[in-house]
Amino acid sequence: MSDRKLAVVVLAAGKGSRMKSDLPKVLHPVAGRPMLSHVLSAVDPLAPALTAVVVAPGMEAVAAAAAPSRCAVQSEALGTGHAVAAARETLQALLQKGKSDLLVLFGDCPLLTGDTLQRLAAARAAPGAPEIVGLAFRPADPAAYGRVILDEAGRIEKIVEFADADSAQRQIDLCNAGVVIGDAQGLFDLIDRIGSHNAQGEYYLTDVFELAHREGRPAGVVECPAEEVLGVNSRADLALVESVMQQRLRARAMAAGATLIDPQSVWFSADTELGRDVTVQPSVFFGPGVTVGDRVEIRSFCHLEGAKVGDDVVLGPFARLRPGADIGPAARVGNFVEIKNAELGEGAKANHLTYLGDASVGAGANVGAGTITCNYDGYLKH
Ligand code: UD1
Ligand code: CA
Repeated sequence: MSDRKLAVVVLAAGKGSRMKSDLPKVLHPVAGRPMLSHVLSAVDPLAPALTAVVVAPGMEAVAAAAAPSRCAVQSEALGTGHAVAAARETLQALLQKGKSDLLVLFGDCPLLTGDTLQRLAAARAAPGAPEIVGLAFRPADPAAYGRVILDEAGRIEKIVEFADADSAQRQIDLCNAGVVIGDAQGLFDLIDRIGSHNAQGEYYLTDVFELAHREGRPAGVVECPAEEVLGVNSRADLALVESVMQQRLRARAMAAGATLIDPQSVWFSADTELGRDVTVQPSVFFGPGVTVGDRVEIRSFCHLEGAKVGDDVVLGPFARLRPGADIGPAARVGNFVEIKNAELGEGAKANHLTYLGDASVGAGANVGAGTITCNYDGYLKH
């Protein structure tokens, strides 16, 4: 292993206009968490010394979601190369401390895994490794992705954007994922030299590959599954990415010892925690912040968020647990019962048509059908 430090730049300044949204694209949730936070977690295993998220002016909400990562503002969206340059000052203190690597990735690719990033970092860290390594993939439909052109040695000769590619280049199925790792100083020096004489009039980050190749510093390439670099540009992409993420979360839950009778109809949040021998019937939704103990049975049509469920509980069918619901061990929550910010003690039962809000129900209690507890007297909330 080298002792080089790692700086990370996440690009998120694009307008994301095809989302037709007031919310910045990277804050749209996937499995209950902003896309950006999936990207930041994927980077975590590499233990970066500093991470900068590049945002557009006015994207304060993105800066808040990115914390403790820093933000750099790209004044105008002039291309991916220009965006990386915008992070230079934010990373300055680290860059001055000595040799470091720079990893660039996109904030709108939330399916990228830590494993893939580690393979990329390993390709850069190996003895005699190339100064730059790019991530590539072979999608079923290469569509409008940038094409990666390799030389005879299997190094990257250049990357040609689809808009600039000729018909022969468009036949190439090796596509640029947009993720790059390389010597930080070397990359920034190359970025300083890229121009914008291309079909989109942008400063393409991808131009660094050709510049480096011409100088006898060809970049290496690592391939990853196409699924991991699905980018979100539209609501349809968002739904596709969500469905892939759900497949992963279902597989993870089953691998950890939960039975999902109909996996396709169970929806998880990235942070859902299930104990051992939990059984989930068809059509259950887990919003953010749910922890479930061992041997719990969750019957169909339950909706849970921000809730803690103890061991041996039976929930539903048709139960709704809202934030602050704390269900004690072996308790029963039946059909059309809604619980918010309330505790249900060990072995207690609320089996039918009940609303428990801001309440504490003791162990072994039996809440009768149609019971309501609330803090609203018709005029004020207490
Ligand atoms: C980019 C790559 C392309 C690759 C594809 C993979 C370049 C020039 N092209 O194309 O080779 O196949 O990704 O998905 O790099 N961004 C900024 N500031 C800008 C422009 C973009 O922050 O000025 C951010 C966007 O928010 C986005 C990312 O950079 O997160 C990618 O930008 P986008 O315009 O979507 O790149 P593509 O044209 O898809
Ligand atoms: Ca573009």
